[in-house]
Amino acid sequence: ITIEWDSEAAEKGGYPHFVLKEIYEQPQALRRALAGRIREGRLHLSELESIQGLLAGIQRIVIVACGTSYHAGLLAKYVIEQWARIPVEAITAAEFRYCDPIVGPETLCIAVTQSGETADTLVGIRQARERGAPVIAITNVVASAITRLSDAVLYLQAGPEIGVVATKTFVTSVAVLYLLGLYLGQQQGRITSEQMREFVTALERLPEQIEHILTQASGPEDQIAPLAKRMSQVSSMMFIGRGVGFPTALEGALKLKEISYIHAEGFPAGELKHGSIALLDPDTPLFGIATASHVYEKVVSNIQEVRARDARVMVIATEGDEKIRQHAHDVLYVPATLEAFSPLLAIIPLQLFAYHAAVARGCNVDQPRNLAKSVTVE
Ligand code: G6P
Repeated sequence: ITIEWDSEAAEKGGYPHFVLKEIYEQPQALRRALAGRIREGRLHLSELESIQGLLAGIQRIVIVACGTSYHAGLLAKYVIEQWARIPVEAITAAEFRYCDPIVGPETLCIAVTQSGETADTLVGIRQARERGAPVIAITNVVASAITRLSDAVLYLQAGPEIGVVATKTFVTSVAVLYLLGLYLGQQQGRITSEQMREFVTALERLPEQIEHILTQASGPEDQIAPLAKRMSQVSSMMFIGRGVGFPTALEGALKLKEISYIHAEGFPAGELKHGSIALLDPDTPLFGIATASHVYEKVVSNIQEVRARDARVMVIATEGDEKIRQHAHDVLYVPATLEAFSPLLAIIPLQLFAYHAAVARGCNVDQPRNLAKSVTVE
């Protein structure tokens, strides 16, 4: 007998594409990123032990990254400032390296790069080091170039990511940055042990909550694939959010652009009226990130402004929020979590939306045109 053996199909483990497989691997990837770093309700970042002294003196943090990793950095800015009360700047590496950055021993530089090889990030971090800044690298690739430029390395533990677009490396980058934020908050004496327990409990629930979203999306009640198919012929889409919903909107838009080639833009919801609202019409659908948060009502009022322009409104909301239905044509629900962690859930339907829209358009979802998994040239 001859047995047909397709090694690529075997690697995809029954999924039609690597991207979909990797979206579905996110609960596992996240569990691995948290494993060993959270034990018995407490935070252990043994990777940082050797640089504890350096960290004690920092007064400012700069996060240097590109693409999806930059979006993870933007999210981290919100939460690290809140938890540690240390000013944080997130900047794209290609800007950082040419802006004669003001960094020194009191500035912690965090490089976020799943591949560990992105040229702009490497050059920027080399400059920061030359100026005496302590550097922490966050990467998925063991012994990659960035690890040789850093004082400490936090690995994502996401497992190999073959699809060019970052999915499980995004979720794990955010998680690892958040752990670092909690660590710094604890070090600054800003997080009580009771608060830490609350954070840790919420973090530990995330993998099963992502699983819940993914299970629903593969069942007969799935709304995401049919919606993405219906929207797949539009030429432009907008994504809005506030607070941590803003970088989520940016990442949702980037995923859609990268794999479906539909033009998409992410905006801070409150900024929309200062120009970009002019783009809205009945043919330009909008995704609002309206999960439970301290700015929820503000996001809803921005969504109402959009509805008034007859644009089609789709919303990511928290389970149990029935009220939002009156403001949106379509609502995709995610489970409830703490506001800071909501992007880790809200991004899952947006990844699936981008994937299904791209498949409906016949795009090469694993290897989109013009993109590379690691960009080692300037
Ligand atoms: C490329 C990839 C993006 C990625 C970016 C940064 O452009 O196509 O998906 O976000 O590089 O990559 P890094 O490895 O530095 O995270």
